[in-house]
Amino acid sequence: MHHRAAATAVVPPKLEVREVGVSFATRNGRFDALAGVSMRVAENELVAIVGGSGCGKSTLLKVIGGLLPATTGAVLVDGRAIEGPGADRGMVFQSYSLYPWLSVYENVAFGLRLRGASEAAIKERVEHHLAIVSLYERRNASPHELSGGMKQRVAIARALANEPSLLLLDEPFGALDAQTRARMQEFLLDLWGRTRMTMLIITHDIEEAVFLSNRVYLMKGPPGRIVTERTIDLPAQREGGVKFSPRFNELRRELLAHLTG
Ligand SMILES: Nc1ncnc2c1ncn2[C@@H]1O[C@H](COP(=O)(O)OP(=O)(O)O)[C@@H](O)[C@H]1O
Ligand SMILES: [Mg+2]
Repeated sequence: MHHRAAATAVVPPKLEVREVGVSFATRNGRFDALAGVSMRVAENELVAIVGGSGCGKSTLLKVIGGLLPATTGAVLVDGRAIEGPGADRGMVFQSYSLYPWLSVYENVAFGLRLRGASEAAIKERVEHHLAIVSLYERRNASPHELSGGMKQRVAIARALANEPSLLLLDEPFGALDAQTRARMQEFLLDLWGRTRMTMLIITHDIEEAVFLSNRVYLMKGPPGRIVTERTIDLPAQREGGVKFSPRFNELRRELLAHLTG
């Protein structure tokens, strides 16, 4: 009996959001920011959540990151309910959250130092992850000496250096100009191709969501809720040119219709 149960056991998804609701107490009473949000991300998947400004995207990502408790429902990572932030979830935000007084190297080393890693281990991990984001040469620079795209690559390297099993990105390219943004999207796809890191990216940009992801959840609010889910059946190997393909534009139009309809 025992053996049979083990053999047929289903591996839980990397991330499962189960009927999550968030209510804030405000001066004007209760405000429901999220209501009954359920979604999943499988191991090695790159999933996007797209929705308009104010629909509750950041609130949802904060709950998944453990920075904000859910009022109702639960968040499970590898089948276990989370109880706060954890090294298993790396986070990257829109605004450059680098420490301006620390060098690029020290920014990436920060979490490792907090956890008491040895100097040799820190050096190895930091250099490895700076190489992954092509910023090894800039390791001694100050954040203010870097472009916006470089700063976000440092933020990504810092998140990766803690070796999370899930990377959460909240509008990571939202503050960048269009050209840098396009380059960063290709960078993220390339990173995913090389590492197959499980990623959940939040964006208000449908084109970005379709270009980057394997699957898209569409969110509306407030109160924030998932209105539809779409598998993105574009080739796994993508480059900027795919944005001009008929299929890309069909998907984009379909999602836009859902969002505005
Ligand atoms: N701490 C808070 N207290 C009260 N309302 C909040 C709080 N945080 C967010 N909200 C509200 O919840 C809604 C969703 O916010 P947010 O998740 O930041 O949206 P998005 O990231 O999609 O733009 C907004 O109306 C916002 O004003
Ligand atoms: Mg937001």
